[in-house]
Amino acid sequence: MASLALRCSASWRLVTSRLLRVSSVPSGKLHTSAMKGATVQQFETAKNKLSTLQNDPGNRVKLQIYALFKQATQGPCTTSSPGMLDFVNRAKWDAWKALGSISQEEARQQYCDLIGSLVGAEPPSTDAVAAQPAGSTTMYKTLLVTTEDNITTIKMNRPAKKNAITTEMYNEIIAALEQAATDDSVLTVFTGAGDFYCSGNDLNNFVLGDGGVEEKARQGAELLRKYVRAYIGFPKPLVAVVNGPAVGISVTLLGLFDLVYASERATFHTPFSQLGQSPEGCSSYTFPSLMGPAKASEMLLFNKKVTAAQACELRLVTEVFPESSFQTEVWTRLKAYAKLPPNSLALSRQLIRSVEKQRLYDVNDLEVECLRGRWVSDECAAAIMSFFQAKAKL
Ligand code: COA
Repeated sequence: MASLALRCSASWRLVTSRLLRVSSVPSGKLHTSAMKGATVQQFETAKNKLSTLQNDPGNRVKLQIYALFKQATQGPCTTSSPGMLDFVNRAKWDAWKALGSISQEEARQQYCDLIGSLVGAEPPSTDAVAAQPAGSTTMYKTLLVTTEDNITTIKMNRPAKKNAITTEMYNEIIAALEQAATDDSVLTVFTGAGDFYCSGNDLNNFVLGDGGVEEKARQGAELLRKYVRAYIGFPKPLVAVVNGPAVGISVTLLGLFDLVYASERATFHTPFSQLGQSPEGCSSYTFPSLMGPAKASEMLLFNKKVTAAQACELRLVTEVFPESSFQTEVWTRLKAYAKLPPNSLALSRQLIRSVEKQRLYDVNDLEVECLRGRWVSDECAAAIMSFFQAKAKL
């Protein structure tokens, strides 16, 4: 995953209100300066509208809002650059600095225009879970979990973020697995909402929350250990329905699944060294076992992204389906499997995994310790920083 699991991300309302608090200047100062284009009243109105937004506009836009607010109220950035490990403040500083010498009046107008466009783009209803079917659905914030036809389906449900896994989602998946382990279902299926299966660890996990880097790494390591253990010890057959591209921990964990069905559109990418990190999900053991050390190294060390067909050749994927018939074919098959005797299936899964189980727990411990060290390294800090800097420049 490379999860540096920190605190759950604050709601967008909270983030914006903090942003405004941090960035606020005495209102008297604003009222005495005439603004070209936007009046003082319009600027104040835009500020108020910002805190009413329901949908998170994304980090890139949030940084832009922050930078324009600072420029509008304080002028060009003249403070010194925060250190490399101070991710959040460094990204904010970069965004403000990037505005160069544009005038305060121009920044105010751009701020009003940006908030106006965000408010205008708000959909009538923003409740992500409202689309969930009633009845057999358990409510989670980041997942859709349904039980039907003897199958419990855990659908990662942050399509706008390519189903990147936040701290909250890690905890919800652990809870959903506990639920699936004890409910009446025969199979447990993972899939993703939207066009991605999952983009791996949400890189914001590295920058949100309180506490020093060491403490964040410690918390992240404990959550990762628990998360992977939930898969290793899961008692029923686990199936991945890989509906699109998969990145990071969503790929490495596939070695712990019993069936992996992939759309031909799916790709599999574990860019750990690119991010200054190291493998998790027991992949340092399962990948070489499945595909041989040389092929495993291409993926885990050298960031090679493979297609669904290649992943099938590497034995990471069970079968690849054409995109046009993927959902129909896979679900027809799974519904038939889910009619098989449940105890026989569960015991067989446990038997097959029993020989390796202790080894997998040990591998998980080793991987987690290695990652804990990686997360406090300069290499990792620089890689995460450059991801957010690239986003801010877009
Ligand atoms: N963590 C945090 N945010 C992520 C994310 C991740 N792992 N993956 C995607 N997102 C966010 C993007 O920042 C973007 O947010 P924005 O709308 O606020 O800008 C949104 O999801 C859509 O992603 P985008 O990059 O615009 O889509 P894309 O199709 O061009 O690229 C990815 C998709 C997944 C290839 C690209 O986002 C990416 O490389 N993400 C990082 C993946 C990664 O390194 N994961 C960790 C592995 S250890």
